[in-house]
Amino acid sequence: MNALLFERPVWFATGPLILEEEAQEMEDYTYHQPVLVAEVLELLAPRAGSLVVDATCGGGGHSAAILGTGADILALDQDPDAIRHATEQLEKFGGRVTIRQSNFRYADKVFDELGIHSIGGALLDLGVSSRQLENAERGFSMMRNGPLDMRMDPWHQSTTAAEIVNNYTEEQLTRLFRELGEEPAARRIAALIVKTRKTSPFHDTIPLVRVIEKVVGRHGRRHPATLVFQALRMEVNDELGALEQGLQALTSRLEIGARIGVISFHSLEDRIVKNFFRDRSREWNDRPEWPEPKRNPDFCLSTVTQKPVEPTIDEQRTNPRSRSAKLRVAEKIA
Ligand SMILES: C[S@@+](CC[C@H](N)C(=O)[O-])C[C@H]1O[C@@H](n2cnc3c(N)ncnc32)[C@H](O)[C@@H]1O
Repeated sequence: MNALLFERPVWFATGPLILEEEAQEMEDYTYHQPVLVAEVLELLAPRAGSLVVDATCGGGGHSAAILGTGADILALDQDPDAIRHATEQLEKFGGRVTIRQSNFRYADKVFDELGIHSIGGALLDLGVSSRQLENAERGFSMMRNGPLDMRMDPWHQSTTAAEIVNNYTEEQLTRLFRELGEEPAARRIAALIVKTRKTSPFHDTIPLVRVIEKVVGRHGRRHPATLVFQALRMEVNDELGALEQGLQALTSRLEIGARIGVISFHSLEDRIVKNFFRDRSREWNDRPEWPEPKRNPDFCLSTVTQKPVEPTIDEQRTNPRSRSAKLRVAEKIA
């Protein structure tokens, strides 16, 4: 069993109850369980011998499942530690797997370097992996103290969560927590952060958790720092910007008939994916002020999932991380 399970989470020292998310985070220490695997295989429908891009390979769970269908894999992840781990996990597939450390927003560059002109499918499984969450040193954990970092790619990114928390104005922090975190207490949390940092700048995760707890208290099933941590992580890694660019880069290389699937965990991500697919699956654009409809220059996709596919109740029970997962798939047609 993973030795981390025996570490005493910092919060246990003061808190009366273990919250559901904390229990989940503890469970997650041991492994990353990929979500919606059966649905991905069915809807992505990879063809044996084709090359599928797993743009967020993480622990390699989805890659291994896709390799099981006979398709080959180009596995990308921006996190060097995930790349090390996936390399070990996927070693047994030998030359059928190519692994590269890259943000998927730069997938074009990787394709060009490898001489890849077209791909037989692509998968993006967004967010963080349990492995990233488990390592306090990465700064994603709300339970264990570590540097307030949150960079998925420490080799190429310079801005950490600490820099944001210590340098953004109160208005910028409020907007960040409100827009990316959808945190109802955004303004009050930002105000207390700004007041606190005047005498004690933030370097570690748990002092920030304490400040958030002071504002919102501890009640309900969700850890009080969830939304603020989510917002900071998304800002540090420019997750929405990367998603827009990555969708474009991957879709443009899809072969006709090949599919792209995206698993998102956040409503803003899901909206970007929904709009991206919708805007490219209309052959004609029309506006009341136009005399006639115009051909849509971006038309190249057909939406496979009219509504997002969600995990079964069984999966939600056995893999709580899957609860907010939404899978959308589209097929290249032109
Ligand atoms: C939820 S995990 C993926 C888990 C994986 N599907 C599996 O089965 O183990 C998300 C992964 O995506 C990576 N990631 C997030 N945003 C990325 C981006 N813009 N480019 C490349 N990798 C990214 C993270 O580093 C993380 O390892």
